[in-house]
Amino acid sequence: MATVGELLAAGTDRLRAAGSPSARLDAELLLADALRTDRTGVLAHAAANAGDGPAARFAVALERRAAGEPVAYIRGLKEFHGLALVTDARALVPRPETELLVDLALAEVADVLGSAPRPPGTPPVRVADVGTGCGAIAVAIAVALRRLGMAGEVEILASDRSADAVALARENAVAHGVADRVGIAVADLLPAAGAAAGMLSAPVRFDLVCANLPYIRTGDLSGLPPPVRFEPSEALDGGPDGLAVIRRLLASLPDRLGEDGLALLEIGSDQAEATDAAVGSLLAGWDCEIVPDLAGLPRIARLTGPARPPEARS
Ligand SMILES: C[S@@+](CC[C@H](N)C(=O)[O-])C[C@H]1O[C@@H](n2cnc3c(N)ncnc32)[C@H](O)[C@@H]1O
Repeated sequence: MATVGELLAAGTDRLRAAGSPSARLDAELLLADALRTDRTGVLAHAAANAGDGPAARFAVALERRAAGEPVAYIRGLKEFHGLALVTDARALVPRPETELLVDLALAEVADVLGSAPRPPGTPPVRVADVGTGCGAIAVAIAVALRRLGMAGEVEILASDRSADAVALARENAVAHGVADRVGIAVADLLPAAGAAAGMLSAPVRFDLVCANLPYIRTGDLSGLPPPVRFEPSEALDGGPDGLAVIRRLLASLPDRLGEDGLALLEIGSDQAEATDAAVGSLLAGWDCEIVPDLAGLPRIARLTGPARPPEARS
């Protein structure tokens, strides 16, 4: 019977031979999963016998990974913003870059809630997560707000054109205990005002619109690394220049973003100028600030509507 350390070494070799750029990490994660432990458990018990059941599960997982499937689909979960989210082929695997969008959204909500007294009857802060996928952004925002004691003052509407993704997002909202604050609906971009979304209904205008919509150029899809080819193409394909879906959302913002509202849109690292140009042509007078990610690459477009004179504000 093989030890944990022997399985790890053989598994790493197998994945390296298959071309995985992260063979050792992948093998650690998959072996931990097969042993029903975590990576620390794998490393701490290298001399222990692995057992036949875990060895067999690991062998199956290795072959799936060697065929290119993402580790997150094989494990059925992915860590995102400190949460373990259920992931499978119904939706994109959430990426670490998107955690920046969550942090910016949380700062904005805290700012809105803290900027003025909120007497009883004040409407909730209304947040949209457009193209929610597995629900990563919406669920992460809701869980963080609950920890801050602010969840009761915020409603989050998550939408996706894919019914499969919506079903997965609902599973994550329930698993993390935020289904009462996150309404999830099948919709093309923002759900129509009044549309039912779980326990909530969509407002006419949102205070904050978050979106990580597809932004890969169609022509670049076939050159993406193997794991990405397991993900739904409608989660990735942004049309000829990558901005086709984002442009449609931009065009809807004047009707759906409240005064003093904010939109946070994830973009590709080479799309800052094109996004700025799209905002310029579709949203006259709007401000577009590009926020870099931790690697210093352009990542989030932060959009605000035209500044209005104080006397025009209600
Ligand atoms: C890049 S994935 C992002 C998923 C998730 N927000 C995340 O960050 O992990 C884009 C998502 O947008 C959805 N989508 C694409 N076009 C859409 C549209 N017109 N309306 C709503 N959702 C759309 C896809 O189904 C997919 O789930």
